[in-house]
Parts: sequence; structure tokens; C-alpha cells
Amino acid sequence: MGRGARETIVITGASRGIGEATAKRLAQPGAELMLLARSEDELDRVCNEISQTGAHADYLVADLSTVDRARDAARKIAEHCEPIDILVLNAGMSNDKPFWEASLEEIVYELGVNYLAPVALLHTLLPRLNGRQSHVIVVGSLTAILPFPSNATYAASKAPLLSLIKSLRLEMKDTGIHFGIVLPGLTATAATEDFESPIPRATPEKIAEAIYLCIARRKGLIIPGAGNRFAAAFFQQFPKFSERLVTPFKGRLFPGFDDHVGE
Ligand SMILES: NC(=O)c1ccc[n+]([C@@H]2O[C@H](COP(=O)([O-])OP(=O)(O)OC[C@H]3O[C@@H](n4cnc5c(N)ncnc54)[C@H](OP(=O)(O)O)[C@@H]3O)[C@@H](O)[C@H]2O)c1
Repeated sequence: MGRGARETIVITGASRGIGEATAKRLAQPGAELMLLARSEDELDRVCNEISQTGAHADYLVADLSTVDRARDAARKIAEHCEPIDILVLNAGMSNDKPFWEASLEEIVYELGVNYLAPVALLHTLLPRLNGRQSHVIVVGSLTAILPFPSNATYAASKAPLLSLIKSLRLEMKDTGIHFGIVLPGLTATAATEDFESPIPRATPEKIAEAIYLCIARRKGLIIPGAGNRFAAAFFQQFPKFSERLVTPFKGRLFPGFDDHVGE
């Protein structure tokens, strides 16, 4: 990658899945990693495994579900870390519920983890980024581009990340900070274990490789997987036709909806 060995790398959601794979992909001898998530045992395991590669990894147990909690976590990182070279905002979740079936609290929580917490982390940590050498990579989702008719809140929590990064690339051009976003499609992690779909899943390592390339080539946007890139391009070109392809659930998603209308 041509980066200096002694780098400071902060990754959220690194206790498993894509975040864990990314931490292992970016760990090089001499690098200092700071990993965030809620599961201490898993963070400890990942740190130990990374330490065997010659990199040094530490963790911060943090619940990144609200702006205040994310800002507190960011302040702790700012206190203890060297200037940050790479910030990967990966932590995310899904209620896996259609909009109407989720409570408002569940919707706000999902928007908090997936959108507001990354905003709070980024905003608080920006002054700690290492000037022209640094990278901010966000893990979005293909659903930022494609509709996700059984999971509208998730899609709506990922779309503004894409918008934010596209604009920040221009707004902060003169700072030299590289902003990039990776939009994975369906990936085989704990998050999708119960998700039944005929669509083939990428491995977390494949997404980690895309994140690595996003950094190494200072890319603005990467959609891993040729099929996913085709789907994104097709939808943007033929939105009406594509809507018919992705709405097989239509009509059975709103149990009790009629009962509530007009309440
Ligand atoms: N898997 C897919 O198909 C797919 C597709 C597109 C995009 N993505 C995105 O990729 C990212 C990683 O997902 P994944 O598939 O690797 O899922 P995962 O295996 O469930 O990992 C999610 C990570 O986020 C952390 N996290 C979740 N809620 C958190 C909270 N409130 N506070 C702090 N950390 C939290 C989890 O750690 P703790 O539970 O220990 O806190 C875990 O480390 C997410 O942003 C997801 O939306 C995934």
C-alpha cells in the first residue's frame, strides 16, 4: 500500500464480521489498531489474534447507538490515540423488520447506530485525523442505492452515509483527507445468518479487501462484486422496471396496517 508502518487505525464494529476481517487485513507490523464494539470477549480475541501479526491492537468497549455515546467514545479515542491515519466506520445493525412492524424506538435506534453515531464519531475525530495522510472509510450498503422493501429503515440509514461521503469529498478537498465508502451486498456474517435469500453471499474477507483497495487507491466508492455493481447500475438506469423486480413482498408486509390507519 506504500503506507508507513507506524499507522494508527481506528475501526468500529471490529468484534466480528466485516470489521474483524478489515482489522486483520489492515494490520501490518508496527501498526497501532484501536477496535471498538460492545462485546469485550470478542474484541479481546481479535486483538490477541492481530498481535500475532506484529501489529499492536487495543480495544475500547463502546455502545455506539446514540450521538452522546458515540461522542464519548470518540473523545476517549482522541485522548489516548496518536493522530489517526485510518478511520473505518463500520459498526452497524438491522432490526430486520418492515417499517410498520418496528416501534418508533427501534427505528430511531437503527438510525442512531447506522447513521448518527458515525456522524458523531467523524465530527469529533476530524481534528485528530492525520492531515493529508489520512483516510475515512465508511461501510454503507448496496441498499443505499437499491430499495430494500422488507427493511426500509435499514436502507434509509445507509443512504445518507453515501450522500455525506460524496459531499465531504468535495467540501473537504483542500484538507487532503481521503473520504471513501464501500457498499457491500449480501455478506456472510452473523448479521445475515437468519436471512433467507438465493443471492450468493460475499465473504467478510472480500469486503475487507475492498476496504483495503478503497484506502490504497484513494477511491471514493467501491461496490464489491460484479453482480452488485450491475444491479446498482441497472436500477439507476431502469428504476421503474427494477422496482418490479425487488417488490415481491408487496402487500403482505403490513399486517394490521388497515386497523391502525386513522387512529
Ligand atoms: N452482512 C451483510 O450482508 C452486510 C451488507 C451490507 C452492509 N453491511 C454493513 O457492514 C457492517 C458490518 O456488518 P457485519 O455484516 O459485519 O455485521 P456483524 O457481524 O453483526 O457485525 C456488526 C459489528 O457492529 C458492532 N455493533 C453493532 N451494534 C453496535 C453498537 N450499538 N455499538 C457498538 N458496536 C456495535 C458489532 O459489535 P458488538 O455487537 O460487539 O457491539 C459488530 O462488531 C454494518 O455496517 C452493516 O450494516 C453488512
